[in-house]
Amino acid sequence: MDLVIRNATLPDGRRGIDIGIDGGRIAAVETRLAARGAREIDAGGDLVTPPFVDAHFHMDSVLSHGLPRVNRSGTLLEGIRLWGELKPLLAQEALIERAMHYCDWAVARGLLAIRSHVDICDDRLLAVEALLEVKRLVAPYLDLQLVAFPQDGLLRSASAFANLRRAIAMGVDVVGGIPHFERTMAQGAESIRLLCEFAAEQGLRVDMHCDETDDPLSRHIETLAYETHRLGLQGRVAGSHLTSMHSMDNYYVSKLLPLIAESGVAAIANPLINITLQGRHDTYPKRRGMTRVPELLAAGVDVAFGHDCVLDPWYGMGSGDMLEVAHMGLHVAQMTGSAAMHECFLAVSATPARILGLEGYGLAPGCHADLVLLDAGSTVEAIRLRAARKIVIRRGQVLAEAPPARASLYLPGRPCATDFRHAAHDTQAAPEKPGDPG
Ligand code: FE2
Repeated sequence: MDLVIRNATLPDGRRGIDIGIDGGRIAAVETRLAARGAREIDAGGDLVTPPFVDAHFHMDSVLSHGLPRVNRSGTLLEGIRLWGELKPLLAQEALIERAMHYCDWAVARGLLAIRSHVDICDDRLLAVEALLEVKRLVAPYLDLQLVAFPQDGLLRSASAFANLRRAIAMGVDVVGGIPHFERTMAQGAESIRLLCEFAAEQGLRVDMHCDETDDPLSRHIETLAYETHRLGLQGRVAGSHLTSMHSMDNYYVSKLLPLIAESGVAAIANPLINITLQGRHDTYPKRRGMTRVPELLAAGVDVAFGHDCVLDPWYGMGSGDMLEVAHMGLHVAQMTGSAAMHECFLAVSATPARILGLEGYGLAPGCHADLVLLDAGSTVEAIRLRAARKIVIRRGQVLAEAPPARASLYLPGRPCATDFRHAAHDTQAAPEKPGDPG
């Protein structure tokens, strides 16, 4: 074998597992693997997981915070205005440089697949060209999937549909949309119909920014589920944000949830962004705004957590750490039961991998040898500590290594201590119900 990782804990709670890797693929996952590896890594009982996956990101705006000015109100609408000011000033080279820089951060944090929306409302399609180049450059180490995103509205912006078709012809992978930003609710529904029909024609996936408002009467997810069902797009469509569901009438949601599940539409919440951008018209109490994650999961809907933004017009925070995203999602959705906490880990790994349709993702023989060794003993501990990524592996090659973060304490009357990560009673080792190992 090219590489053997010994004594790993897996996301589903199995302990003492050896992982054999050969030819860039996982060859064996078993206890006490007899075969030797050209290189051997001792996981020391720590968690080995398939890589993190970000199902919702904006790489054309990443690391542009402060260009040309900061978002003073911190609101979504000022962010969109600010992005409109920045767009004509964008230079392709600088955009590529910022995106490449972010991809370095991502790899160091074990984030090896990203679905990024790219704004197609600039007739030059400069960001599309730039991110297609970035996709080509990072392909050996990171899967970048691009979504043609009509930020200014498909029907509201005169050239948007033509530009979207051009972007797809150039190699953009997924059809995007923003129905709640169209001029009327009817135009929003019309945009969904047009985009889903186009995706069905072209055999493409769909991922729309959908109902990213606090309007309890926004109904675009209903239309998206209907069109998905009508056109036979089950399993290929995602609704991103869905924040209006937070505020909708409970009776209506009781009808909507099975409709979404039946249509095979996935949901992508963006906890860091939803908790900061939603509820801005509220005084007190302020709504959280994130979609109904536990209820969607209970209905059988795939729910992923996305990062959405890092240091851009909408968000002056972030570092490409999907454990930070899972940590926030867990808190905002109050998913504090042990099975629910484990689900939050899957929402930044196995679930978005399914939504993106990543081939060969997982921890079974035959899967790509894409793995992350974390400085934690379980998925829940990884979230609690936003654990260091000790080793990041892609196709059997080590891409990144980092020493675990440790402080040494020299307290009067106490022996020197360095390891504070484990609780006295580690009850977090295995999820309550066996999880998807990826
Ligand atoms: Fe977004």
